[in-house]
Amino acid sequence: MDYKNTVEFQNAKFGMFIHWGLYAVPAGRWKGKSMDYVGEWIQSKFRIPNSEYAELAKQFNPDCFNADEWVKCAKNAGMAYIVFTAKHHDGFAMYHSRVSRFNVVDATPWGRDVLRELAYACRRHGMKLGIYYSHCLDWRESDAGDPGSDSRKNFGMSWGNDWDFPDHANKNFNAYFHRKALPQIRELLTEYGPVFLLWFDCPVQITLEQATELRDLVHELQPDCLIGNRIGHDLGDFGCLGDNQSPAGRSKIPLESANTINHTWGYKKDDHCWAGAAKIINDLLACSEKNVNYLLNVGPRADGRLPEASIDILEEIADWREQNKVIIQGIEGNPFPQAFPWGYCTVKGRILQFFVTGNQRSISISGLRSRIKPCNMPFSQEGKKLCIELPEERKDNLPLVIQLECMDEPEFEAYPSPQDGVLMLSPAQGEIIAGNSAEEWDIDVKLEPDGERMRAEDSCRLAVSGALTQWHHQGDGICWDIAINEAGTYEFRLLTENRKHSAAWTGARTVRIEFAGQVLERELENDEVISSSYYHKSASVIGSMKLNGTERGRLHVLNCSIESPEAIDMNLTAVKICRQEGVLQL
Ligand code: GLC
Repeated sequence: MDYKNTVEFQNAKFGMFIHWGLYAVPAGRWKGKSMDYVGEWIQSKFRIPNSEYAELAKQFNPDCFNADEWVKCAKNAGMAYIVFTAKHHDGFAMYHSRVSRFNVVDATPWGRDVLRELAYACRRHGMKLGIYYSHCLDWRESDAGDPGSDSRKNFGMSWGNDWDFPDHANKNFNAYFHRKALPQIRELLTEYGPVFLLWFDCPVQITLEQATELRDLVHELQPDCLIGNRIGHDLGDFGCLGDNQSPAGRSKIPLESANTINHTWGYKKDDHCWAGAAKIINDLLACSEKNVNYLLNVGPRADGRLPEASIDILEEIADWREQNKVIIQGIEGNPFPQAFPWGYCTVKGRILQFFVTGNQRSISISGLRSRIKPCNMPFSQEGKKLCIELPEERKDNLPLVIQLECMDEPEFEAYPSPQDGVLMLSPAQGEIIAGNSAEEWDIDVKLEPDGERMRAEDSCRLAVSGALTQWHHQGDGICWDIAINEAGTYEFRLLTENRKHSAAWTGARTVRIEFAGQVLERELENDEVISSSYYHKSASVIGSMKLNGTERGRLHVLNCSIESPEAIDMNLTAVKICRQEGVLQL
């Protein structure tokens, strides 16, 4: 069913995640020890008994809290929605709940309903309000989600509270679910006005029946409220990528990527790893051009203020947006059949926006059939090729913004072709090839990372992120119809990502590339590390081909064999084909 907010969600593009709760009081330090994981996990990290954790409520007195300031900060940065943690895994409600007295009004000396103040501020500033609610984990409750000591831990920490409530056999999740989770969801959807979306998290243990009951309750109370896919059992209205995961291709479904601004969600005193504004803008654009919303987290301090570094970053984004009149809401992803090596592209009606992240002095764009209206940027247009001269001096390291208006509805070539000598192909725009799934497959796979199941007999497919995944049979792969329009020697690289968080893929696999009657084959290695945080990304060179510039045809990338099982974790995020300078000898 299409709920009203789906369109608003897809138009929104940029939102603010706010993780605020009692964990902001210890702020990542407990009894002299600093923690290495995300701050809102402090109770599980140090196995803090509920009786001691509840003492934090007595210290919670955020006299600097001002909901309008938070909302204005988000709005100026170009954000269209906020997602606020009404209850995190610690079970503490940041609103006035009648279901449990463990809430910000009844249990703190401060006694104000944060969610209510935020809801009013959002209404005043035309900001949509979404609510995060941890529906399975609740460390305060003896019956809440706990997959037990046999299951995989979360970076060494227990998912459920097994320090206060070690009697795993007698936990009755269904009782918790009906006693606390569902009644609190009812409160949130009946007492705080229209809720834009509900952001559930960590669907450990929930059954299909329970998740369905929850979904039906939400849609009964607020039919327009969207449900995030971490509800479990794929019952959500919009997809959630992994934490800090960027998409690999244009998404056809409503999708969002949630990101930290440093290395934590909840405030941590000792985390000074702030992403710069340039990195945030870059990631926002990388999402926007793939039709994916970018949700950026801030973790307010215990006194109610946003950390100064977060404010500075958001203000820098606001200045960049205002000075360049950047259009964020309502834009659509890159309409060309390939990505650009120098940055990003979006479109809204007749307006094309190009964002240049490098230091180029000029860029050329081929494949645009429509004429461009004169503008204050020097450009030339011959046939389907558009060349733009860029200013020599750039004031900062933030992306340069070029807005061009087409004479009429813009039209584009269908065949991907190199742009400034580089062709970037996304699996989301290719055609998937199912290989020999009947083949004997003797690699032992026990992979079940966050809800994604993989079985030996499954064929390759696109992951939600748009990457090619599960290409483990011989002949599994992908193809594109491409056009090479300049003679030269072209190098072929595969860009890959580990499908699991926080590690690089290892192992060995051999891949074959076929194009224009030529074949390249190589065992892949992590030749170049592109990013080593969260989802590790790397590039592997496969080899080079001499092409005469008139080729138009099918490019195949195929799995030949997997030599060791770890290589299964490798997703293909892009193919990059680069013309080599100065080596043209045909
Ligand atoms: C993870 C963390 C959780 C955080 C969430 C945000 O699920 O466990 O603490 O709120 O990511 O995406």
